[in-house]
Amino acid sequence: MAKVTVVGAGNVGATCAHSLLRLKLADVVLIDIDEGLTKGKALDLSQAGVIEGFTDKITGGSDYRASADSDVVVVTAGLPRRPGMSREELLDKNARIICEVIQRSLDTSPEATIIVLTNPLDLMAYLAYRVSGLDAQRVIGMGGVLDTARFKRFIASEVGVNPADVEAMVIGAHSDSMVPLASLAKVDGKALTSLISPDARVFQKERTKGGGAEIVSHLKQGSAFYAPGAAAAHMVGAILLGDKRITPASVFAGGAYGIDGLYIGLPVTLDLSGVLEIVELQLSPVEQEALLSSAKEIEAGLTALGRWFS
Ligand code: NAI
Ligand code: 2OP
Repeated sequence: MAKVTVVGAGNVGATCAHSLLRLKLADVVLIDIDEGLTKGKALDLSQAGVIEGFTDKITGGSDYRASADSDVVVVTAGLPRRPGMSREELLDKNARIICEVIQRSLDTSPEATIIVLTNPLDLMAYLAYRVSGLDAQRVIGMGGVLDTARFKRFIASEVGVNPADVEAMVIGAHSDSMVPLASLAKVDGKALTSLISPDARVFQKERTKGGGAEIVSHLKQGSAFYAPGAAAAHMVGAILLGDKRITPASVFAGGAYGIDGLYIGLPVTLDLSGVLEIVELQLSPVEQEALLSSAKEIEAGLTALGRWFS
């Protein structure tokens, strides 16, 4: 049985743990500085299993020794965005948390593959990579699975189909500069460009870019967690099962798409070793330009990150 640790037992972490258990993917350990939160949620989840039919072990605590030898560590520890607060404003507080969590996780699970969710995502994934000392392929950020789910949901509503019939992907930063790939999107195998007007496409792309903020504006406190938690569990599944399906993930670009030296959302295949390969899709010239400008935005954020590693 695989073992997955989720660090941060807040909204996203607990939802991720629930999704992992429902998918019967692994024994799950919840770690948080708030020990009561982990213990209460682990107990509650174990009781949900009686009703929902999952039986894998779920435990909680503040001591990383309980998480020893995890195959995957999912990092959701950190502050969520508040209304009017940009992801970048979260940087300083969350950088401190990432440094601590990565070091403590690797002390007990040196072989783990790491998935980072903490925002600002692409910068925190890069920071996790730098402070971990691991190969970049073993440190992955989750943002694109969520953004893609939002894009598919909005396209499906516009066209009036089931989201399962929509093929689409969002790459780029997990921020307003993300790049929903409308040129490659299909519904029931038909190009999206032949199904809805350019104006409708622009509207759905813009709604996707603002998808997180739209939810924050309704919730007033905190940010989305059901879809983010499910998205993280989906990514753990892709890693543990090595299903080779193309998944968007924040990874070290290393020259792909003309980008280097930073983490950004790109199409990849995954297995237990982490990123197997970055897949180069044929983007439209406008999308390629938008991807480069998204990378520039991330690059600007890296300057503020420099003081957290040497
Ligand atoms: P939350 O506030 O509900 O939970 C965060 C948890 O982290 C809290 O329980 C807190 O005690 C814990 N924590 C803080 N410092 C810690 C430390 N040093 N060690 C262990 N645990 C620590 O927040 P929520 O909604 O779960 O969001 C968590 C993070 O995920 C935020 O940064 C949020 O912006 C991000 N997020 C990222 C998404 C993505 O697609 N990448 C989607 C949704 C949220
Ligand atoms: C989201 O996109 C806040 O990153 C989080 O919902």
